[in-house]
Amino acid sequence: MSLYSKRARALLFGGALAASCVALASAYAQAPGPSPAKIAVENRRAEFVLIGNFFRWFGAVARGNAPYDEAEATKRAARIAYLAGLLDESFPDISNVGEPDSKAKPEIWKEKAEFDKKLVKFKEDARLFAEAIGKEKSATEGFKTAVANLGQDCKGCHDSYKAK
Ligand code: HEC
Repeated sequence: MSLYSKRARALLFGGALAASCVALASAYAQAPGPSPAKIAVENRRAEFVLIGNFFRWFGAVARGNAPYDEAEATKRAARIAYLAGLLDESFPDISNVGEPDSKAKPEIWKEKAEFDKKLVKFKEDARLFAEAIGKEKSATEGFKTAVANLGQDCKGCHDSYKAK
């Protein structure tokens, strides 16, 4: 076989591979998949699951049920602050689906301005929380106060806007 035809075959093979990748990608893009409403609820719940899991440890440390760890504290606080920053896109109108798929109460969309204020406050408080946690190097009173303060935001919003 000449060098030329080997090269031609390689080119043909490469071309066929690329074409089948494009076909696969477009089939995936066209698959029915979850609705935009379902995706919006899933994203929101995923964000809160992560916020909850990263925050729980602070409560345990503040109560003396888990050992303080500076690297852990810094990492978790930064992640909570980051996730809090995503929430202002997490309540589109289409995601007002109610139970059983979501525990977000319809009041969120009836009182959107009020609710948005809570979101803005939470975002700012999560930033301040990360700052405060960064300054404490053990489970000090300052650490406990910061945890309690942010916990008030969780509770305050859940009491009004999250179904039990
Ligand atoms: C501005 C309002 C608001 C704030 C602040 C808030 N949450 Fe929530 N949270 C909600 C709403 C609404 C839901 C229900 C979401 C849904 O089901 O669609 C929720 C759901 C949750 C869930 C359940 C997730 C699931 O689907 O399993 C957890 C855990 C959670 N939040 C933890 C927290 C923690 C921890 C904080 C504070 C660090 C916090 N939240 C702050 C409004 C808030």
